[in-house]
Parts: sequence; C-alpha cells; structure tokens
Amino acid sequence: MPVLHNRSTIIERIAKAHGSQCGFCTPGFVMSMYTLLRNNSQPTEEDIEDACESNLCRCTGYRPILDGFKSFSKNYCCKKELLEAETQAQENDLDCKLYKLSDLMDYDPSQDIIFPPELLLLKDKSTTSLEIHGKNITWFRPCSLDELLSLKRDYPKAKLVIGNTEIGWYCVIC
Ligand code: FES
Repeated sequence: MPVLHNRSTIIERIAKAHGSQCGFCTPGFVMSMYTLLRNNSQPTEEDIEDACESNLCRCTGYRPILDGFKSFSKNYCCKKELLEAETQAQENDLDCKLYKLSDLMDYDPSQDIIFPPELLLLKDKSTTSLEIHGKNITWFRPCSLDELLSLKRDYPKAKLVIGNTEIGWYCVIC
C-alpha cells in the first residue's frame, strides 16, 4: 500500500466514509484529526471524538465523519483483527458498509512534515509586548493581564481585539 502525505490518508478516510457532503466543514475536521494524530499516533475512539467536538457540520450528522476517523483508532484495528478471524462472508459484510479497510492508505507517523522552524521563532516573539503606530491607529499587544489593564486605563475607549475579523468594518465606519 503506498504511503502518501498523512493528510491525504485522512482526506481519503473522510471521503470513503461519506463524511463530506457540502465540504464546508471538511478542512476543519481533517486538520483536527491531523493534529490529533501528530500528537498521538494511536488514539482511542474517545480521543477522536474529543478532538472533533469543537467542529460543526451542517450536513452529515457527524456519524460518517467519526466512522471514517475511527479507522485510525487502536481499538478499531483490534476490531479489524477480530473480524478477520471470522468468516470471510461476515468480514465482507462489515467492510462493505462504507469501505474496505484493506483498501485504505496507511498512516505513517514518520511521514509527517516537520514543524516549520520559522514559526517556532515567532512563538518566542509572541511573548514580547508590541506597540505599532500607524497613521490613524495604534496597536498594542500586551503580554500580561496587568499590562492589558494598564492600557485600558490609559485608553478607555480602545477596542479589545482577539481575532475578531469584523473590526475592519468598525474602523471604516468610525
Ligand atoms: Fe457540509 Fe459538514 S459536510 S457542513
């Protein structure tokens, strides 16, 4: 069985389990599963459910997504071995529900790409306070609660921004 990039194996499993319909949620589920596997290459089915619980899907009802991903769990592999010991007809019956386990690409933790060293350098910088003066606006990045409270005292009307993308519209309207 060829080993491709591990995200390909995750995408294959969600696709073969019919876990993607409109596809809007699929990248989030794939990256959640990829993150889990990078941190734990032998998750339990419960680990997989926990890793996916912050993702929302409007279409699938979640069962096919989890069915596909649970094929990565160590419990699932045990089930497969038990099934292989049963009659061929019973095994085929189960395998054919969504896909044949034997047709899936292998997940190989040694094939994960390395974490980009540039991002590790940025991680160190993110613990440093920052002050950027623009033409019409000044940005502060406090690194402690005390620093934040001090800034709010000095600039009581300042907006507190934590990843909210609509802030650009408020600035245009102001
Ligand atoms: Fe449509 Fe999940 S497949 S939102």
